Amino acid sequence: MRTIVVGGQYGDEGKGKILSYLARVDKPKIVARGGVGPNAGHIVVYKGEKFALRLVPCGFVNENARLLIGPGVLINPEVFLKEVAMVKGEGRTGIDRNAAVITKEHIERDRDANARKIGTTGSGCGPAMADRVSRVGLRVSDVPELQKYLCDVPIEVNSTENVLIEGSQGFMLSNYGDSYPYVTSKDITASSVAADVGLGPTKIDEVVMVIKAYTTRVGNGPFRDEISIEEAEKLGYQEYGTVTGRARRTSPHLHFKDLRRAAMVNGATQVAITKLDVVFKENVGARVFEELTREAREFVATVERMLGTEVTLIGTGPDAKDTIDMRIRE
Ligand code: GTP
Ligand code: IMP
Ligand code: MG
Repeated sequence: MRTIVVGGQYGDEGKGKILSYLARVDKPKIVARGGVGPNAGHIVVYKGEKFALRLVPCGFVNENARLLIGPGVLINPEVFLKEVAMVKGEGRTGIDRNAAVITKEHIERDRDANARKIGTTGSGCGPAMADRVSRVGLRVSDVPELQKYLCDVPIEVNSTENVLIEGSQGFMLSNYGDSYPYVTSKDITASSVAADVGLGPTKIDEVVMVIKAYTTRVGNGPFRDEISIEEAEKLGYQEYGTVTGRARRTSPHLHFKDLRRAAMVNGATQVAITKLDVVFKENVGARVFEELTREAREFVATVERMLGTEVTLIGTGPDAKDTIDMRIRE
């Protein structure tokens, strides 16, 4: 089974939490990271400890899995090395030799007037991507400190049956998301994430699209039904960015028209809903669907109807364990 996990909104849907759950339960041999690069900040809460990861796969919680980063992903060597040490991933972590490198100069350039207008994460991803497209940037195989991590990710993921693939950001930050120029520097739909790790479209079995029970966006650009920080605090919805610490913008609603389009372009076969416990507070920590309140169950049914896709996973708390798994019902 090869499963891709992608974001259906503006990033920060809680992919990290869903990935860490799947990495434990589905026992993949490889967890491979696609997506843009260290602009992402995935949070994993595991055995009471909180990890913020920008490059190393969230699947580290499965100690038997190999942790790979695909050739399509931008690498900041310093961030990567710090995270390998943080998750004790030495010996099982690899980067494809063709991945492109983010330098200090890219990070400088990611503070210019255009980057400020867009409200980028300042992680150097846009400028590094531009250099990669212009074919003037470095590859990780040029970096001495990374030599011992170099590998061939496409060969590994194509020759292994059970692989979990991590996307980053979310559909609305793709060029397809109708938000240009307020988007990230690459498309981050399931097809693009598959290509990032070297998998062809016929090699993917499942696409899990993660959505949060309300909507958030960081950075500038159009955003419907936005409420103030004060209102978001009152509802318990206010969040702060993992990479930048910026206050995330909040809309208390799901934007169904966008979500339907996201499910279509991603070819989603399953939907995961996170933070159901934040919207329906009595449901904190629920582990089976039948435990949910009627309102919460109706919300899940509405998502399924509006997206035409089955909801298979539900998050009821930040810990990987706080997950309702409906895949095992039949
Ligand atoms: P990007 O790659 O940056 O898009 O990140 P992400 O999709 O991995 O999400 P991120 O970890 O940045 O933000 C999600 C936040 O919600 C984190 O703080 C998680 O710990 C938290 N979270 C995820 N799922 C749940 C859930 O079901 N309930 C609650 N209460 N918190 C959750
Ligand atoms: P960049 O990817 O840093 O160039 O930023 C471009 C846009 O994408 C900005 O609006 C960022 O806030 C947003 N963005 C990039 N990565 C993430 C992410 O992981 N979560 C949420 N927003 C992101
Ligand atoms: Mg994030």
